[in-house]
Amino acid sequence: PRERGWLNRYQYLYGDFWVSGFALTGVISFQQNFQAKDSDVILATLPKSGTTWLKAIVYSIINRKICSLDNSPLNTTNVHDLVPFLDCKVYLNGQNPDLSGIPPPRVFTTHVPYPSLPESIKSTTCRIVYLCRNPFDSFVSLWHFHTRARPKDLEPISLEDCFDMFCAGASGFGPFWDHFLGFWKESLKNPKKVLFLTYEDMQMDNKLQMKRLADFLGYPFVENEEKEGIIDKISKFCSFESMRELQPNKSGNKRGGHFDVSSFFRKGEVGDWMNYLTPSMADRLKKVVDEKLGGSGLNLKLLC
Ligand code: A3P
Repeated sequence: PRERGWLNRYQYLYGDFWVSGFALTGVISFQQNFQAKDSDVILATLPKSGTTWLKAIVYSIINRKICSLDNSPLNTTNVHDLVPFLDCKVYLNGQNPDLSGIPPPRVFTTHVPYPSLPESIKSTTCRIVYLCRNPFDSFVSLWHFHTRARPKDLEPISLEDCFDMFCAGASGFGPFWDHFLGFWKESLKNPKKVLFLTYEDMQMDNKLQMKRLADFLGYPFVENEEKEGIIDKISKFCSFESMRELQPNKSGNKRGGHFDVSSFFRKGEVGDWMNYLTPSMADRLKKVVDEKLGGSGLNLKLLC
């Protein structure tokens, strides 16, 4: 595989699905057909940044007046169905469904980088929440995810091969540094439009980040709710341990025929990369991070 071109290597590692259905037709149909509304909320991430977690939190914040956590649809329906991906689900394989009847606020997710988002997302007042995760941990998470999803008849993906590609920026949604910077710069320019969160801050002070999120979305927690401990309750309900145990998130259910739903819940920690990357791999990735993100003001935490 080292002698192959990047696209071939990508296909070799991740299989046809990523090249034909996932990375191309879904993105193109999304770009061409999606019409954002002012009331929309768009969650944007790179794969393995904690998207599943963010979806559960945003869904719970927005719907907390409509249903208690005991009655939350999250108990019975997979979170990826409640807050669907636009590029990887709604528009997958070039589909173009009518989304106009979905009641506001519509909440969707995308992995598409900021410059490539449909124009209507930029021109309306819809809000974007970006969740960024340090690339050390997201790489390890990605490698596990693909290893698990890989058809058994193909040879296993080597960590080293996957790492080479990651450091070179070969990914279906572009290099991680470009992805981060696109949303980071926009959040600095227009903080009412883009809220930039990190997985590490969410782990370190979940309550504070949830308050920021609720304020940004226009669903602030009021004093009474704070007294009743609703923030803590949502935080616990959406925690890794709790979400992993919910029936719709347990193994046995395939998403799009490719991923077992339980593979979205592996370890949920900051710093697991230390168990996988050699010191020289860590140095190499650190150099990439310093070179690409240096001077941007975006400082990533590698440990909590
Ligand atoms: P790990 O593989 O490091 O455990 P995504 O949802 O973007 O695919 O990201 C998946 C990563 O987020 C996995 O990381 C997964 O375990 C972690 N994750 C999923 N749910 C989580 C939660 N409720 N809290 C914290 N991390 C969570």
